Amino acid sequence: MNNTYQLPQPIAELLASSKNVDAKQPELIRQGGYVPPSMDLMIDAITALAMGKNLLLKGPTGAGKTKFAETLSNMFHQPMYSVNCSVDLDAESLMGFKTLAYHDNKQVIEFVPGPVTNAMNTGTFLYIDEINMAKPETLPLINGVLDYRRTVTNPFTNEIITAKKGFNVIAAINEGYIGTVPLNEALKNRFIIIDVPYIEGEQLRHLIASTTRLKDNHTIELFVQLSADLIAAVGQGKLSEDAASIRALLDACDLSTILPPKRAIQRAIAAKLEEVREREFVQNIADTLF
Ligand SMILES: Nc1ncnc2c1ncn2[C@@H]1O[C@H](COP(=O)(O)OP(=O)(O)OP(=O)(O)O)[C@@H](O)[C@H]1O
Ligand SMILES: [Mg+2]
Repeated sequence: MNNTYQLPQPIAELLASSKNVDAKQPELIRQGGYVPPSMDLMIDAITALAMGKNLLLKGPTGAGKTKFAETLSNMFHQPMYSVNCSVDLDAESLMGFKTLAYHDNKQVIEFVPGPVTNAMNTGTFLYIDEINMAKPETLPLINGVLDYRRTVTNPFTNEIITAKKGFNVIAAINEGYIGTVPLNEALKNRFIIIDVPYIEGEQLRHLIASTTRLKDNHTIELFVQLSADLIAAVGQGKLSEDAASIRALLDACDLSTILPPKRAIQRAIAAKLEEVREREFVQNIADTLF
């Protein structure tokens, strides 16, 4: 697979007019970046960001959502501040906190900015991971950040912050994962949704060859087949979704360069599954392939 993509002319022009992407440089994705299942997915994400819209990446664990966000921020030459959501996420972890400091031997109260205030003040990217893990009452604080106002009142300083040009929000969710809550409609409404599936076939072959230690084409082919079988079994409800995680598959590929592949699959993929039935199912697929 070609590692670089030529952007269609209207998108290159849009980028040139709106953001600090070097649109003269068509080779936007290089080795080590996110490998999209189709070029459309990449084009849609770039277009939405170039228009200043918020992106919500939706997909199972190990599908490359974080990698995708990193790749996009690299393309826009923008650093990325991150927030990891959890039930403990509060206003301070988003906006920052007050602390005591000393200036010229005098005690003063200083405000230490958080990821939201930092990204807004510097006009850079904000990545909100596992956004559906946060308590539903926490995130409405940043509703104004996510709509046309691009503004928030910092509850700790009463300062009104308006995002600088270049500020963009990318969030990620793993739907149905334990501990997650359905995303509030008003919040979801503020995003352009991009589904991030597990990649397959040619894209997966390229990813394995370029990012793992596995270089033998025949074995790579077997792992690509294993992944297709796992994805099919997930589709039929025989395995839970994370059985087909690309993260786990890449780990198995790496281990297989030293360990026998079946043991690598057991350690990296099968052992993570809850039910004995599922673990046996994965080992059976491995037995028939390797
Ligand atoms: N399409 C892809 N292109 C590039 N790398 C990928 C892709 N899919 C998976 N990976 C690799 O798999 C690993 C997991 O990816 P990443 O952490 O981005 O997943 P995620 O969707 O954010 O998972 P989680 O929901 O658990 O946070 C990384 O090493 C990443 O590089
Ligand atoms: Mg992630």
